[in-house]
Amino acid sequence: MKRILYVRSSLFADASVSNQLADEFLLDLTAKYPHSEVTSLDLAAQPLPHLSAAEFQAWLVPESERTPEQQQLAALSDRLIGQLLAHDTLVLAIPMYNLGIPSTLKAWIDRVARAGKTFRYTAQGPQGLLDGVTAHLLLARGGEYRGTPLDTQTGHLQSVLGLMGITAIESVYAEGLNMGNARRAQGLAEARSAMKTLLSEAA
Ligand SMILES: Cc1cc2nc3c(=O)[nH]c(=O)nc-3n(C[C@H](O)[C@H](O)[C@H](O)COP(=O)(O)O)c2cc1C
Repeated sequence: MKRILYVRSSLFADASVSNQLADEFLLDLTAKYPHSEVTSLDLAAQPLPHLSAAEFQAWLVPESERTPEQQQLAALSDRLIGQLLAHDTLVLAIPMYNLGIPSTLKAWIDRVARAGKTFRYTAQGPQGLLDGVTAHLLLARGGEYRGTPLDTQTGHLQSVLGLMGITAIESVYAEGLNMGNARRAQGLAEARSAMKTLLSEAA
């Protein structure tokens, strides 16, 4: 049994490749682990605002000293962190937009990667506070970037998830989706094959 947090970020809902792949992956994952619980978060359907200085500053004020406005501002990040902490498996469906991750996903990361909550600073550097979380990344791209310096998504997500202590990270790539029908079909087939391998190896 897994407690799965499924985070979507494509603009295109059910027409999105990353969402379709993640949906398929979840079907197989929940078949493999019956009684799993899935919580879905669609950051395109319900986008988070960009982080503001007032919201960030509200986090720094001890809870008992926050003004009503600061309590309200801090509640969003507290809620998203509480939600993340309540799950042991993270499934992120990630389109590539302008060589990076969607800004909505970045707004979520800006709320959950929070000093004192999901990581802490130490003399040896930052230390992640999340333990036992596995992340599955389903990445969809119009072009081909895997293994090249232009793939900024993989490194960024590994770093920021790692910052919080999530180091068990598996990535599946659907690439070449806008490079003609044959390349698109190949990209989808490769992604589906990688998902099957991942599921067969999942503990
Ligand atoms: C606003 C926007 C920006 C995009 N930028 C890139 C890009 O920089 N590189 C790329 O390979 N594909 C790019 N694409 C194509 C998408 O990565 C591709 O359509 C992919 O399928 C998106 O995932 P989705 O189907 O889950 O939405 C872009 C698409 C959109 C809508």
